[in-house]
Amino acid sequence: MHQPDSSVTTHKPLIDWVGSITKLCRPEQVVWCDGSDEEWHRLCAELVESGTFQKLNPEKRPDSYLAWSDPKDVARVEDRTFICSRRQDDAGVSNNWEDPRAMRERMQQLFDGCMQGRTLYVIPFCMGPLGSDLSMIGVEISDSPYVAVNMKIMTRMGQAVLDHLGSDGDFIPCVHSVGAPLAPGKDDVAWPCNEEKYIVHYPEDREIWSFGSGYGGNALLGKKCLALRIASVVARDEGWLAEHMLISGVQAPSGEKRYVAGAFPSACGKTNFAMLIPPETYREKGWKVTTVGDDIAWLRPGKTGKLHAINPEAGYFGVAPGTSYESNPNAMASLERNTIFTNVALTADGDVWWEGMTEEAPKGIKDWKGQPWTPDCDSPAAHPNSRFTAPAAQCPAIDPEWENPEGVPIDAIIFGGRRATTMPLVFQAFNWVHGVFIGANMGSETTAAAEGAVGKIRHDPFAMRPFCGYNMGDYFRHWLEMRKEIRELPRIFHVNWFRKGPDGSFLWPGFQENMRVLEWIFDRVRGRARGHEAQLGWQPHYDEINFEGLDFSQDQFDELMQVSPEEFRQELLSEADFYLELYDHLPKELIFQRELLAGRV
Ligand code: OXD
Ligand code: MN
Repeated sequence: MHQPDSSVTTHKPLIDWVGSITKLCRPEQVVWCDGSDEEWHRLCAELVESGTFQKLNPEKRPDSYLAWSDPKDVARVEDRTFICSRRQDDAGVSNNWEDPRAMRERMQQLFDGCMQGRTLYVIPFCMGPLGSDLSMIGVEISDSPYVAVNMKIMTRMGQAVLDHLGSDGDFIPCVHSVGAPLAPGKDDVAWPCNEEKYIVHYPEDREIWSFGSGYGGNALLGKKCLALRIASVVARDEGWLAEHMLISGVQAPSGEKRYVAGAFPSACGKTNFAMLIPPETYREKGWKVTTVGDDIAWLRPGKTGKLHAINPEAGYFGVAPGTSYESNPNAMASLERNTIFTNVALTADGDVWWEGMTEEAPKGIKDWKGQPWTPDCDSPAAHPNSRFTAPAAQCPAIDPEWENPEGVPIDAIIFGGRRATTMPLVFQAFNWVHGVFIGANMGSETTAAAEGAVGKIRHDPFAMRPFCGYNMGDYFRHWLEMRKEIRELPRIFHVNWFRKGPDGSFLWPGFQENMRVLEWIFDRVRGRARGHEAQLGWQPHYDEINFEGLDFSQDQFDELMQVSPEEFRQELLSEADFYLELYDHLPKELIFQRELLAGRV
């Protein structure tokens, strides 16, 4: 029953693999997704029928849907995420590890009959523009139609990918089940999932198995699983970088344009920064910021001698709360239609709402658990990790080169985190090795994107801690070695929009005003801004940041840029454990950099 027509594919290994997974999972039927709009509408209608989706008011939000998940399935499950390399040492201390043979046995048990009563969808997808040498093809098998319709937005999905694969192309096998077989005659639930969850990667075999969750990065396997965890291993082996980075273009009034990539831990305003609209004074002069990607960048040494970046994704799986026409008008415009919302609130007139979308909540809301909600309820109306899945092409600021198969040349890499203290607004690394050291030391207050405590400082190197598919020490070494492969190295910067004053309020107004920092970065890259050598790196003078149209005094700036020796003492101490844990994989360069920093502060 799983045999596709030869017009669908003649790829024998793919057909055989789908056959073997079908035999194991025993679904009621097999559907090969063609990725057409017609298919998307049909599956969405089926999801409405089965109660997973509610269709939103077509006048407010055309062709858009809302899903409410099981309250126990709302975020990535990092403690259930495994890197099953043959040697434990290759996974390293930042990953959970299990012997691949033992894990494969466990997967065979769990997947045995796990799709009974359900449809098995074969979802061929391409990460990156179809036909680009920089892209990678995967095929996800999933028993979740919710996954199929999200994958259509997040990736290039369907028949075109099979056509590209031909009869012998390489693909990454990805197997996903919500782990909720349906006994004959038994009614389904709106969000099937399993208490027991496993997100499993076999880096040597380049294979992904995910069980028990239907949510986001646990289930849309092209994103974190393939484009970061597996791709980081491929990148190490092939001499490139798969990074948790946004990509955007900055164009000056002269027409000169530069691209930057930026790594920020989950839910640090990365999507807002990627889609930044410059303040009015900048817009009047003709400054433009365009978006290539908001979450993942694949960077390879390119023809120009610079690093070239592609965005492997085709959509945004963005955090909804906090997104508004004020904080991110481009994101709001992107999700006006053809969008899937998960775990946001439903308004009385059939539209969506979340905290921060408007100052006042509309009346008559239902929260993400389907309960009537008013502002005096104890819990938020939208789950803090509620999301929108929206097509990238709908972003008004999408960069004209966003699907260029050769990628865009990168001039600056920006690291950042959510830090109430310690880290100044901006500084530039002295050189590549120092930049790698800055990336390795990144930290941020934890957010709702993953399960666990919120608000603690977590050491999150390169924002890759949950996403690096191999030993973090080797990853640092790989970054250091890339220096030899890149003729024109990007400059490396660190920013912090989230520093707070003694009264707990943010010192930097943020959002649009981040453009002022971006302009300094732009000027540094072009060799225009002088900066001065300070303890942490090159820093701007007050008069080097353009404050036109913003009331921001030298004193405020000094407070924001201040480096406290005592805070840095704590910073260095808090990282000591991590350095000890990585000891035998840690490149010497980073230990020396740490000494140099201690000396400077
Ligand atoms: C994301 C994340 O969903 O980083 O992008 O958690
Ligand atoms: Mn992310």
